[in-house]
Amino acid sequence: MKKQKIKFIFFLLITLSFLNISFAQDISIESKVDSLLAKMTLQEKIGQLVRRTDVDKISIELIKEGKIGVMGKYRPSIRDSLQKIAVEQSRLQIPLVFAADVIHGDRTTFPVPLAQSCSWDPVLVEKAAGIAAFEAASDGLNWTFSPMVDIARDPRWGRIVEGAGEDPFLGSVMAAAYVKGYQGRNLKDKETIAATAKHYVAYGAAQAGRDYNTVDISERTLREIYLPPFHAAVNAGVASIMSAFDDLNGVPASENYFTLTKILRDEWKYKGVVISDYNSIGELINQGVAKNREDAAREAISAGVDVDLVGDTVVDNVYSAYLGTLVKKKVVPVSLIDRSVRRVLRMKFRLGIFQHPYIDSIFFKKNMPSQKYKNKIALQLAREGIVLLKNKNKILPLKKNIHSIALIGPLADDQEDLLGPWSGGGKAENVVSVITGIKNKVSSGTKINYVKGCGILDSSEAGFNDALNAVKKSDVAILVVGESRDMSGEAASRTKLGLPGVQEELVKKIEGSGKPVIVILMNGRPLTIDWISKNIPAVLETWFLGDQAGNAIADVLFGDYNPSGKLTTTFPRSVGQIPIFYNHMNTGRPPSKTDKYTSKYIDSPVSPLYPFGYGLSYTTFKFSDIKVDKKKIKKNDSLRVSVDIKNTGTYDGTEIAQLYIRDLVADVTRPVKELKGFKRIYLNHGETKKITFTITPDMLEFYNIDMEKTIEPGKFNVMIGGSSEDVISTSFDVVN
Ligand code: BGC
Repeated sequence: MKKQKIKFIFFLLITLSFLNISFAQDISIESKVDSLLAKMTLQEKIGQLVRRTDVDKISIELIKEGKIGVMGKYRPSIRDSLQKIAVEQSRLQIPLVFAADVIHGDRTTFPVPLAQSCSWDPVLVEKAAGIAAFEAASDGLNWTFSPMVDIARDPRWGRIVEGAGEDPFLGSVMAAAYVKGYQGRNLKDKETIAATAKHYVAYGAAQAGRDYNTVDISERTLREIYLPPFHAAVNAGVASIMSAFDDLNGVPASENYFTLTKILRDEWKYKGVVISDYNSIGELINQGVAKNREDAAREAISAGVDVDLVGDTVVDNVYSAYLGTLVKKKVVPVSLIDRSVRRVLRMKFRLGIFQHPYIDSIFFKKNMPSQKYKNKIALQLAREGIVLLKNKNKILPLKKNIHSIALIGPLADDQEDLLGPWSGGGKAENVVSVITGIKNKVSSGTKINYVKGCGILDSSEAGFNDALNAVKKSDVAILVVGESRDMSGEAASRTKLGLPGVQEELVKKIEGSGKPVIVILMNGRPLTIDWISKNIPAVLETWFLGDQAGNAIADVLFGDYNPSGKLTTTFPRSVGQIPIFYNHMNTGRPPSKTDKYTSKYIDSPVSPLYPFGYGLSYTTFKFSDIKVDKKKIKKNDSLRVSVDIKNTGTYDGTEIAQLYIRDLVADVTRPVKELKGFKRIYLNHGETKKITFTITPDMLEFYNIDMEKTIEPGKFNVMIGGSSEDVISTSFDVVN
């Protein structure tokens, strides 16, 4: 008892001393910002709100004059020479901050963010982001435009690949994981970089899934679906937020006072930097809310955008061109400029670049994690991101001493595409292709008959017969098909979501051989694979897994890793079902097979092909005995729900237990289920574990008819299972 007390006091003292240090740091940073700001001319202030990426005579002059505060990403020597000009030749010697996109790894390429989210493993995601930060910082980057925390419910939208899928709870957990990974314990540490939660906000709700398109959603949908991951990033201490391109309910996101100031600053008390998206301020003219570029600058700064991101010779920076005039004309008060400059300077102090403006190459040489460790994390994340969609008759895993394999398809011997979109400093030569991964895995006697069959976009079937012949002389066919890496990501929306080119015909041809067929998919979004799902016995969704792709896929194919990934985005049967997501409302006429006048289609089932949270394993899990510890609780009480999970199959493996809640009757309609928690549980075959979730009041809250957060008395269903559509349930009541 005594010992415990001492331990507690010790812990308290340590905590208090940390709090004191950070409080003292805050005060000292604020006073440094104040004294610097007092010395700055208007031009120098505006300079801090301007990013320019070109390295040319103009940039050099502007840096000398203190008219640029933010630059891009360069080779270390160039970066440091630009910095030298800023700290040695500009009047106030304010260092530059270097900012660019590091999306899923810098030199080491991790799986694309959508694949990372399918791991449901925030600890690993945080580690990967930490490695990306280390590598990027060693090249002199201080600030990344990542993570993208946009919720995406429409797979036509190419940028679905850059986020964590469709769910606000999982999206929030992943948002916080990335922020912690990039920013580490203290932004001052040399291996950390400032993160940016983007694109604020609701960019993923673009009408018809067309990139940059208009968004028109209710405030409820905004607050319940699209805002939570941003709020989670803010709570995790994210250094910056990027304002989006979209027109949000008639007020473009980059001039939206309601989201940028009322919600972000007033409600969430956010103190970091808001940076625009690329030319999103200039585009206010096209959106029809600004007369000209001067007007656009006025609107953005007044709404709360601190920095204009755009800056190369193609498009001029609106802030550098017009903020000065606006202040002189007294249209924009200088206090508004000061407010934004403060935020940028504060970030620069927090990053420690005033004390250490240059790259500390000795530090990085000494402390950089080994490539072995980086590859280990990349491999584990790639394995965990793979989702086994189908495995009829347990055709997987294969035996390593299998006699022969036909390896077919445009992505079987590819490295470049496996990097995925936006791979930064990643190199194709570092990617382990599927063919290499398989070759390294199988026995020396195994024959691999590789035939490409067709290209990703090919319209010719000329290679099909060769492929078929290879299959005929093999024991099994593995087909590696999908999208090229530039078919998802920015400005890559699609109206058709089937396999591009003649790839589906290739799959059909091979299926006709009668040999067992395994399809490995690579793509940046859910595809419509109804035929494949019905006719092919084994299907693996592997997204774009980065450097370790081939190793991870081979580990799964041959049973060295038992797949555990779960979908974070619903797979539709056809494009006509979109948007389709698990957490929808109930209708007055839920679909019924026997009643025509219910909410359904006459030409397709309503259900998705694969639901949110779905993913198979080589073993099977059974959930049973779900119990709440209280049948009735008061509004502010918590309760616990427990469940037994048994590994009922023959392999050891990980199940991702998902907790969903439904408020059965409320003031406004509520979703049929909402994810509120999850746990990764490793179970040996035959083993049973009891797991417990605590349901806290915030999990029961929603926005009522007056848009106030509330918990209403009444019945709640609580469901736990291994997929959003495979749960067992119980209920409890909230009473007054
Ligand atoms: C994208 C952003 C990105 C920015 C800077 C824009 O086109 O929408 O996500 O951070 O460019 O590269």
